Amino acid sequence: MSTNQPAPRCVHFSFLPLGQRTLFSSAIIVLSTGYMFAMIYIFESHAGRDGNPMLSVNDLIIAYSGSKSDTRIEAALKGPMANMLPAKEKDEIIAWVRRGAKNEDFATVESIIDQRCNICHDGSNPHIPNLKGHANVAKTAEMDTGMDIFTLVRVSHIHLFGLTFIFFIMGTIFCHAYLKLKWLKCLIIALPFLSILFDIASWYLTKIFPPFAYVVLISGGVMGVSFGAQALISLYQMWFFKPDENLMYDV
Ligand code: HEC
Repeated sequence: MSTNQPAPRCVHFSFLPLGQRTLFSSAIIVLSTGYMFAMIYIFESHAGRDGNPMLSVNDLIIAYSGSKSDTRIEAALKGPMANMLPAKEKDEIIAWVRRGAKNEDFATVESIIDQRCNICHDGSNPHIPNLKGHANVAKTAEMDTGMDIFTLVRVSHIHLFGLTFIFFIMGTIFCHAYLKLKWLKCLIIALPFLSILFDIASWYLTKIFPPFAYVVLISGGVMGVSFGAQALISLYQMWFFKPDENLMYDV
């Protein structure tokens, strides 16, 4: 080894041993597959809440802060259950819900519900809400306020830990890539971590101020783009990049 050369710091992929490149590539491929499943899950659990099948800002607002305007029973009466009773009786139930779905005046709607709804909603089918008695009906008449704080806290800590691991692994691999603009490389490494913080903070803030749902959407997008960039650039440079000797010492 000649003595006048600087000690290697972070070498380019192409100088890494075959075994290490195989390890890196395998990790990227499995992580990317995981990322795809995460996208499918997000889509399945959020898209269509607002009636439109695509994932939209409204879906996120409903998920995190609730639909506000409708209770479950009202949404059902305006949607799938609309043909189960005459319009006049439907209005009576909705009026009762809007008055606060109280026990005092439940009598005004109890006979309608028993007659029109409880052929099916008598509790015999566990997959549809039981509408027998005030307590059960009131449960479907609670305002939808979105995910509760405890659920958010639980999901937050899972995301903070999990995503940090994923982007730490990706970033550690990506460090061996060569980008002419060093600041861009650093940005691609740092942005997902920033996005995680913005994303999670916005889940809570959307409850208070719904337009924060845009921040949820944008930070999710930034995370995805930087994940994709790191994965593709790394895989490409690992196997197809013609190295320059200088990259042996610093990328
Ligand atoms: C012929 C049987 C039948 C009758 C009568 C009926 N429902 Fe339903 N209801 C269902 C079924 C099945 C579902 C679940 C599938 C769905 O959501 O479309 C359901 C779902 C619901 C839901 C839950 C929707 C959700 O948020 O998942 C509510 C609330 C509801 N019905 C209210 C009513 C009310 C109020 C009446 C009376 C005006 C009524 N239903 C009459 C069969 C019935």
